[in-house]
Amino acid sequence: MDVKVPFVDLRIQYRNLQSEIDSAIRGVLERCDFILGSEVERFERRFAEYLGVKHGIGVSSGLDALHLALRALGIGPGDEVIVPANTFVATALAVSMVGAKPVLVDCVRETYNIDPAQIEGAITERTRAIIPVHLTGQAADLDAVLAIARRHGLRVIEDAAQAHGTLYKGRKCGSIAEVGCFSFYPGKNLGAYGDAGLVATNDDALAERIRRLRNYGQRVKYEHVEKGVNCRLDTLQAAVLNVKLRYLDEWNHLRARHAEAYRNLLSGVGDLRFQQVAEFSTHIYHLFIVETEYRENLRQYLSSHGVQTGIHYPIPIHLLEAYRDLGYGEGDFPRTEYLAKRMLSLPMYPELTEEQISYVAQRIREFFDRKGARG
Ligand SMILES: Cc1ncc(COP(=O)(O)O)c(C=O)c1O
Repeated sequence: MDVKVPFVDLRIQYRNLQSEIDSAIRGVLERCDFILGSEVERFERRFAEYLGVKHGIGVSSGLDALHLALRALGIGPGDEVIVPANTFVATALAVSMVGAKPVLVDCVRETYNIDPAQIEGAITERTRAIIPVHLTGQAADLDAVLAIARRHGLRVIEDAAQAHGTLYKGRKCGSIAEVGCFSFYPGKNLGAYGDAGLVATNDDALAERIRRLRNYGQRVKYEHVEKGVNCRLDTLQAAVLNVKLRYLDEWNHLRARHAEAYRNLLSGVGDLRFQQVAEFSTHIYHLFIVETEYRENLRQYLSSHGVQTGIHYPIPIHLLEAYRDLGYGEGDFPRTEYLAKRMLSLPMYPELTEEQISYVAQRIREFFDRKGARG
C-alpha cells in the first residue's frame, strides 16, 4: 500500500520554501563563515526576540542545550534532578551526561505533563533542579513547579524541545524559568535540516557561561578558562532556521486547526480519548495523540491503508534498558505506563490537507465499526 498520509512530510515544506532556503544556504557557502557565522548570530537574536528573552545561545542539539544548561548551573555528580517519567529519553540523558541522577515523577493523566502534586515526594537533600517538559506542544504547570522550586531552593530548566511558540499564561514556553532549552530536530515545529538546538535565558552570567562551554570553554580564541565542549549551532542549520522562523506562527496555527478537525471528526468514535489542553496553556500540536485500548490493531489497520502513525513513547524511561540502574520497575509510574500502552500519534504537519485528515478519520471510524461488527 502506498503511503497516502505520511506521519510527517518535510518534502512539501522544502518545495514551498525552496528558493528562500537554497539562497540562504548559498549565502553561507559564498561567505564561508561556517563556524559561528553571521546566520548563527542572527538566529540567536531573532529567536530570543521571538521568545522575549535577552539571550539565545545556539547549540548543536536539544540534548546539548539541556546538558549545557545543567552544567552551567553547576549541577553534576552527586546531584539529583527531577524529570518527568513521561518524556523523550533526552531529558533524562542530559542529567546523566553531567554525572547527576535523574529522579522520575509521574504525569497528569489528562495532559501528559509532569504532575506537580508528586514532585515534593521525590525531593531529597541531593535534589538540585527540576526539568518540566512541555510535552507534545502544551505547557507544563509551570507556576506550580516554580513555587515548589522556590520553597526548596531548586533550579528550574524548561525543556521546550516540543513547544516552539506555546504560550503559558500568555508567555512563551522556554522564556519563563531561569533557562529554557529547545531542539530544532527536523521534525519539530521549527526544524533544521540536521541537528540543532538553543538555550534561552535572561541571565547574563549564565548566557556567557553557556556560550563559553559550547565553544571549548574559551573566553576568546585559545584562552580556555574551563573544560568546555564543541556543541555549537552549525551555520548552515542557522541559515535554514532563519528562513523557517518567519513561518513558525502560521505553521503552529495550521497545526492547531488540523487538531480541531481531528477532534471534530473523531469525537465519540470507538473508545478514543484525546489529550486535554490545560486552561493555562495554548497547544502548538507538535504531536496530535489519541488514546485507545486497541492501539496496535488500529495502527496496523491504518498502516495497511497508507496512514503512518507514531508512538511517543512506547517504553517509558524507567523501563528502558539504559536506565535499569535507577532501580525502577513496572508499576512505579502507572499513568505514564498506561499512556505508553495506549497513545497513538496521528499524522500532523502544517501542510496536511483537509482531504488527508478526513481520510485518516474515515479509516479510524471504519476500524471501530468493523471491530464492533466482529464483536
Ligand atoms: C522533550 C524533548 N527533549 C529533548 C529532546 C532532544 O532534542 P535533540 O533531538 O535535538 O537532541 C527532544 C527531541 O528530540 C525532545 O522531544
